[in-house]
Amino acid sequence: MLPRLGVNIDHVATIRNARGGHLPDPVRAAVMAIEAGADSITAHLREDRRHIRDLDISRLKATITKPLNFEMAVTDEMLAIALETKPHAACLVPEKREERTTEGGLDIVGGHHVIKPFCARLKEAGIRVSLFIEPDPQALQAAVSLGAPVVELHTGAWCEAIVDGRGEDANRHYHRLCEAAVLGQQQGLEIHVGHGLDYQTAELMSALPQVFELNIGHFMMGEAMFDGLPAVISKMKAAIARGYAKRI
Ligand code: PXP
Repeated sequence: MLPRLGVNIDHVATIRNARGGHLPDPVRAAVMAIEAGADSITAHLREDRRHIRDLDISRLKATITKPLNFEMAVTDEMLAIALETKPHAACLVPEKREERTTEGGLDIVGGHHVIKPFCARLKEAGIRVSLFIEPDPQALQAAVSLGAPVVELHTGAWCEAIVDGRGEDANRHYHRLCEAAVLGQQQGLEIHVGHGLDYQTAELMSALPQVFELNIGHFMMGEAMFDGLPAVISKMKAAIARGYAKRI
């Protein structure tokens, strides 16, 4: 089965919020992305509401016809919103106010005792928990002991190394991702990947037999300004299909 494409629509809201008001509408982007072939929609309600707002989340849940993946920090406020919204999935991410984007994976080794009851509450509510982690064996082990069915491996450091032309670093990060994908699957985890992916890196990740889903936002929303969102979704699906065709 082709890996699934999750489309993150946060940055439609970033542009909207630059001017206030309600345009462009991230819910319209989500509907358009689904019509063009997105398999799910991801939205991150950050503590500072810098892009997605509470009303976007409830409108997304009420409108979209594909699964909603709610990205959230491990806070009581976000847990309450998740339990009320009941998205298909919740992806737990670390969050620092001053960061520009989610800069690293969640520390599920150090934060185990805090995250465990969170996972349990979400699971009880029928919400599928995904943990956004670094491609690291210890983190994978911790994900298993937390009872999470899914991990999303952070591809940001790898993608950045490629963009910066740091070939050796890129290779090192790539091998870590490959090893983590194998190890995670052996431990029964469903493997997702995300952060910083573009057509080239999405194709490479789709060639890994363990990768079940890619979550992509910033690159696609940027390209959509030039090519239009439906065309960008089609191109990304084609990149995923090319990668998939290379699986052994
Ligand atoms: N996955 C997770 C868990 C993220 O936090 C983000 C960024 O919000 C993404 C995927 C998408 O990353 P990008 O916008 O760089 O494609």
